[in-house]
Amino acid sequence: MTATITIRNLHKSFPSREIPGGYTSILKGVSLDVQAGEFICILGSSGCGKSTLLNILAALDPHYDGELLIDGKAPGTPGIKVGYLFQEDRLLPWRTAEENIDFALAAAGAPKSVWKERKEKYFSIAGLSEYRKLYPHQLSGGMRQRLSLVRALAIEPDLLLMDEPFSSLDEMTARRLRMDILEIWRATKRTIVFVTHNSYEASFLADRVVIMAGGVVHEAISVNLPRPRDYDGQALFDMNRQVIARFIASSVTASGTSPLVAVAGSSPNRPK
Ligand SMILES: Nc1ncnc2c1ncn2[C@@H]1O[C@H](COP(=O)(O)OP(=O)(O)OP(=O)(O)O)[C@@H](O)[C@H]1O
Ligand SMILES: [Mg+2]
Repeated sequence: MTATITIRNLHKSFPSREIPGGYTSILKGVSLDVQAGEFICILGSSGCGKSTLLNILAALDPHYDGELLIDGKAPGTPGIKVGYLFQEDRLLPWRTAEENIDFALAAAGAPKSVWKERKEKYFSIAGLSEYRKLYPHQLSGGMRQRLSLVRALAIEPDLLLMDEPFSSLDEMTARRLRMDILEIWRATKRTIVFVTHNSYEASFLADRVVIMAGGVVHEAISVNLPRPRDYDGQALFDMNRQVIARFIASSVTASGTSPLVAVAGSSPNRPK
């Protein structure tokens, strides 16, 4: 199965650090439709609310206003499998690499009969087969990131959320994993929402690059390049230039609005 996403006028505030009892508005009316099987990359400056949006999509944060539907249902509805590769690895330090995956498979309700095959497949893709018995602290930062990727993929999710998954990897490993992710996506057609600061990576991977600025979706740019795409080709280079130009334009527009103002009064967000 693969999931659609409907986001309408999504608002999210956090308690203000400056004004006691006030709140800071982060998402100020995000609207976006994602088709089943679409690969979306989100670009946006640091602190604009990308991880906040993913947390809401993953049903980790029920406090928001507006409409959000995954396959027509509220986030967290049983039956929709969401794989989430967090910005920081959230591995269980007292479990080995393999036991971390077992934990995720059990939590997702995957039948035990598929565990062995899933683990072999995704450990191999991530280049971690030899490290299954090690604990997270015995792995490098990049290996922990790849282990988090195994965890997100092993449950074979309907919706895959990835928050800067390759930012801490060396370029060669990142290139290989981008190809692997594209291959998994091509084979399964799962919906992917992928956050990155790398416009080139976004242009290479995405059907659409979504630019967030000023607490809203500023623009969604269709990447009309045929697949498979050549990572070093002129077409991608030109596309990236366009994306960067529009990203810079979005920052200029957003800086003309009043970003992230702390407001006195209680948070308007309500749990869904
Ligand atoms: N639990 C929280 N309580 C209060 N403020 C928060 C909380 N989580 C996030 N924020 C604030 O919300 C804003 C958006 O945070 P978020 O993590 O979504 O940014 P981001 O776009 O993912 O940034 P980056 O690219 O640096 O990862 C930031 O100003 C952050 O300080
Ligand atoms: Mg983030």
